[in-house]
Amino acid sequence: MLITFEGIDGAGKSTQIAKLVHFLTNEGVDVLTLREPGGTPAAEKIRAILLDNAHKVTPVGELLLFSASRAELVQEVIKPALQEGKTVILDRFFDSTTAYQGYGRGIDLVLLQSVISIATCGITPDITFYLDLAPEEALKRKFAKSSIPLAFEREELDRMERSGVEFYQKVRHGYLEILRQNPDRFVSFDALQPVGTLHQQITATLKERSLF
Ligand SMILES: Nc1ncnc2c1ncn2[C@@H]1O[C@H](COP(=O)(O)OP(=O)(O)O)[C@@H](O)[C@H]1O
Ligand SMILES: [Mg+2]
Repeated sequence: MLITFEGIDGAGKSTQIAKLVHFLTNEGVDVLTLREPGGTPAAEKIRAILLDNAHKVTPVGELLLFSASRAELVQEVIKPALQEGKTVILDRFFDSTTAYQGYGRGIDLVLLQSVISIATCGITPDITFYLDLAPEEALKRKFAKSSIPLAFEREELDRMERSGVEFYQKVRHGYLEILRQNPDRFVSFDALQPVGTLHQQITATLKERSLF
């Protein structure tokens, strides 16, 4: 069983994954949680390159680095875990590539699809929970706990996060296109709802579909 979470930074993916892991573990499910990019020693090094502000990375370079990290994770960790019957919960998977590098950076979606197929070995999530949030709201959440002025805060943002609000609007539009094209697999929730409400909606959806 493969469950993935998607949405822009600040949408609440980590929060919901932690609650879901707790819930499923209590139900006796054998859960493995992973995040992209990263998850193997080589993939973690690729992650560091992708997020480092010291590097300028071209859109195609970015696509291939994310995909290289994914290929490592799929072959070394995800595939073996799925074969052992584990439930794998992934914080981001190939929909992030479509939304960020496709719709966000403007890479041709057909070309991008073939790179995705190579990196994933054809593995598709059983269900994807998409937490939909406006980029402005995500930014507000990011700075909510900080007393440092926004201008200084920006130095704390990583390379992807510095891409700007217009980029994130394109990414959100991309996610909504993915939703239109995958109405069964891709389940969208309004991320402005309270944490507990979202958690209930997520577990109810899994139950409805007999996914645990
Ligand atoms: N439903 C929610 N309502 C309000 N704040 C939330 C909600 N879910 C998460 N948050 C807060 O928003 C911030 C980002 O959440 P996080 O789970 O880290 O998002 P992501 O992993 O998608 O970047 C955190 O401070 C978190 O406590
Ligand atoms: Mg997170």
